[in-house]
Amino acid sequence: MAEYKPWLVCCFILAGLLSAVGLVFLCIVSIVDRECPGGSFTRAAVSADSLRCSEIGRSMLKQGGSAVDGAIAALLCTSVINPQSMGLGGGSIITIRNKKGKVKVYNFRETVPQSFDRNLLKDCRTTFGLTTGSQWIGVPGELRGYEAVHKQHGKLPWAKLFEPTIQLAREGISVPAYLGSLLKFAIVKNHVENSSLCEVLCNKNKTVLSTGDILKFPKLAETMETIAEQGADAFYTGKIGHDLIRDIEAAGGTMKREDLKSFQVRVEDAWTVPVGDAKLHIPPPPAGGPLLAFLLRLMKGFSLSPNSLDEDQKIQTYHRFIEAAKFTNGQKKSISDPVFNDKKSADHLIDPSFINHIRDMIFSNGTHDNSYYYNAKPSRDHVGTTHVSVLDEDGLAVSATSTINQLFGGGVYSPRTGIILNNELSDFCGRANTMRAGEQPPSSMVPVILESKSGGLLVIGGSGGSMITSAVALSIINRLWLGMNLKDAIAAPIVFVDSSNEVNFEPGFNKSVIDGLGALGHKPGRWKYFFNVVNAVEKEKGCIVAVSDSRKNGMSAGY
Ligand SMILES: *[C@@H]1O[C@H](CO)[C@@H](O)[C@H](O)[C@H]1NC(C)=O
Ligand SMILES: *[C@@H]1O[C@H](CO)[C@@H](O)[C@H](O)[C@H]1NC(C)=O
Ligand SMILES: *[C@@H]1O[C@H](CO)[C@@H](O)[C@H](O)[C@H]1NC(C)=O
Ligand SMILES: *[C@@H]1O[C@H](CO)[C@@H](O)[C@H](O)[C@H]1NC(C)=O
Repeated sequence: MAEYKPWLVCCFILAGLLSAVGLVFLCIVSIVDRECPGGSFTRAAVSADSLRCSEIGRSMLKQGGSAVDGAIAALLCTSVINPQSMGLGGGSIITIRNKKGKVKVYNFRETVPQSFDRNLLKDCRTTFGLTTGSQWIGVPGELRGYEAVHKQHGKLPWAKLFEPTIQLAREGISVPAYLGSLLKFAIVKNHVENSSLCEVLCNKNKTVLSTGDILKFPKLAETMETIAEQGADAFYTGKIGHDLIRDIEAAGGTMKREDLKSFQVRVEDAWTVPVGDAKLHIPPPPAGGPLLAFLLRLMKGFSLSPNSLDEDQKIQTYHRFIEAAKFTNGQKKSISDPVFNDKKSADHLIDPSFINHIRDMIFSNGTHDNSYYYNAKPSRDHVGTTHVSVLDEDGLAVSATSTINQLFGGGVYSPRTGIILNNELSDFCGRANTMRAGEQPPSSMVPVILESKSGGLLVIGGSGGSMITSAVALSIINRLWLGMNLKDAIAAPIVFVDSSNEVNFEPGFNKSVIDGLGALGHKPGRWKYFFNVVNAVEKEKGCIVAVSDSRKNGMSAGY
């Protein structure tokens, strides 16, 4: 007979209580774990150029889509909200980190068509301005690229990604303030009014639309509908491509259906470069990844910390950055399409001994007048492009930079398809002496992903042509080493060294620092067009911060 043992009953009650307390504790921990500071998110986020497109990306994620689905939907949207920056007539470079930590680069940048003007590079502009005309059109890779990344990482049906943008294009949007102000610039207004773009971007009087006017893309809506139903082949081998080529030919261009048919997406491993404790995943040439890595590693050697912005150090900190940027400009020629050029031409940019050698050439007492000191030859500066950063609930990270090159590409609009064509071949200007069929022009684009030792992620990239390298580098330096939060890191006014080694300060840059830098011999430039824009998503300790640059009135979205 079992004896009644009160202590045993007590034991059971105690154990029950303890486990109940434990459960409650676990619940609280998991709730607290999900509580992130105001303005940050717990699961996923999208940073595109505009709130509209960030929200469309987020809606895909909330419907069970992956970061790739979100990025494609946000990019399609951007082709309507910021049609000057990118679209189906352009190309992109996308860096993707899967949840196991493997990082791949999908490069579907435009290529030189089989038939092209052999003397084209003699027509490169020597002064600042837009390069127009059908002779500059590269073979568009955009949709083949979306197809490839969607096949690999997409979770939603392809057609679903197009739905919100088809509706925007058909029903119209009111011209956003950013686009409206661009269209007022004399150089852009003439560009648009004096080209086939006027069909969509002008009013009945053939003058450019203003902020708040209704902008519709009915033809593009039809084209997107067909592509949503039939896939990218409708563009590369079907009727849309056929119509596009007819319009390009009518505009005097030489691209053929065969060029579209043979376009191939390049998939390769990202280059992974240590930058202090962090790992930086960059797109290799012809992308600008190695230039960014070079600049960051030069700066890392100066042991930057929040104190580097103290009154007595600030000028020296920016002096070093400017010197490093001058040397980075001098290395631009190392970037070219490895399929057609020396495959190793950019390897030295991530080689510690070369980086240390160059750092030793940076003196604290002043700059060098002689531009040969930096290996710099006056080249060309460019503007344009868009960037989207996305992080999803499964930990898939997408850093996507997309472009039609300059504002509205070369001003060639295809009336049959509603597509605005790129002028990417002008990216060879000042950076190469020849081009060959199938070659991709060198690029400044740097869709990158940084991984901290503690497992944090920073998905970041930017737009603004030649300014991309400086704008993205400064955002990363501000965030990682100078103690700023992500928003301030991106918002801080930048300094940009142009291709003549002149130093240009974004409005708002500290005046007394500018004077101090002048005393060190830096020549001020007269750059007027600060189109630099950086968009980023950061995840740290379970909390996600997403920042879209306010320079383009951007807003991020997450949950
Ligand atoms: C457009 O620009 C070209 C080249 O600058 C010029 O020849 C042409 O007359 C212009 N057309 C119009 C309609 O302004
Ligand atoms: C077109 O020009 C006419 C005459 O100058 C003007 O009355 C009208 O408001 C303009 N229309 C638009 C859409 O700007
Ligand atoms: C500009 O920098 C100087 C030198 O570090 C500092 O004294 C000053 O407060 C700064 N001005 C502004 C407006 O931040
Ligand atoms: C700056 O420092 C370097 C290296 O210490 C020296 O060679 C150079 O003469 C100095 N230049 C000036 C202008 O003082």
